Amino acid sequence: MHFDKSKLVQKLFETRDLSDEELRFLIENNESDERLFALSDKKRREIYGDEVYLRGLIEFTNICKNDCLYCGIRRSNKNITRYRMSSQQILKCCELGHALGYRTFVLQGGEDSFYTDDIICEIVGSVKSAYPDCAVTLSIGEKSRESYQRYYNAGAERYLLRHETASPGHYARLHPSEMSIENRKRCLFDLKEIGFQVGAGFMVGSPYQSTENIIDDLRFLQQLRPEMIGIGPFISHKDTPFSGFENGTLELTLRLLAILRLCFPFALIPSTTALGTVDPKGREKGLRAGANVIMPNLSPTEVRDKYMLYDNKICTGDNAEECRGCLERRVKAAGYSIVTSKGDARKEE
Ligand code: 5AD
Ligand code: FES
Repeated sequence: MHFDKSKLVQKLFETRDLSDEELRFLIENNESDERLFALSDKKRREIYGDEVYLRGLIEFTNICKNDCLYCGIRRSNKNITRYRMSSQQILKCCELGHALGYRTFVLQGGEDSFYTDDIICEIVGSVKSAYPDCAVTLSIGEKSRESYQRYYNAGAERYLLRHETASPGHYARLHPSEMSIENRKRCLFDLKEIGFQVGAGFMVGSPYQSTENIIDDLRFLQQLRPEMIGIGPFISHKDTPFSGFENGTLELTLRLLAILRLCFPFALIPSTTALGTVDPKGREKGLRAGANVIMPNLSPTEVRDKYMLYDNKICTGDNAEECRGCLERRVKAAGYSIVTSKGDARKEE
């Protein structure tokens, strides 16, 4: 089927939705991408102006019980030095981050059973009492509903858990058999019901991904209605079973960022480190395509090169101050401005 792409883009701008056939055409054709980016930027400015929100990312453990085939910190990777940060080390990162103007801390890690619910709640509680003006986001994987409720009660208000791919068959090719898309979705709906602001998302260009899979992802996101949507290109890691696969492209990631902005005008959408890894100006281009969040690394420089989800990750030799200054310049050069507020999602009237 053939469509006029610029008409499709206009329709998506006005109605926030398209048929599967129309989406397929939009995803697969690179003509009129400039028009697509212009309208997604217009939509983003209607709702969020030129504001870009910062999230200070603290990668506090690279120990993981899971064995996702794409991920560099999977448990089968023996070619990696594992680390865990103590509560004090995490609080030190927050102290530095707060001084640099961060008002959201994202505590991300592998699924590491050392951090029991008690320990997570203790960490969340101490960050919240030291910095009551800040939001705490957790990104620590699949847990029981009871655990999520405890984290919420301890003061965590946001949770990031990418669904990775909404298609069961595709999910099974990216993950070991003990993991399932059903449990992943159960987690996301539990988090939502508990009251978290929820972030889902997927990798672009992951092995075996088809356009149908991406359409499934968009349909799933329409069902979940997350406050945050994170996407970035798949990047192969040399010590994983996917080492020989091609990386996802800048082009498709940008096109999907723009489509996401038009489908979900109110979403908080990061321009990810992975996008900055596939292209030196990737994060700036992501902002211009519709993203409005940046998640600079706050982890101590000593551990950064150990949290390698994929090869050639940027900023692993830099420190928190360097990243803060660098991003200030980059965001400005892209035509936006960093704001140092908590940056909650705007709500539709
Ligand atoms: N390439 C790109 N993104 C990756 N992630 C994990 N491994 C890779 C990779 N090889 C992403 C996943 C995960 C997030 C923390 O990082 O989507 O949810
Ligand atoms: Fe880390 Fe540019 S953002 S050095």
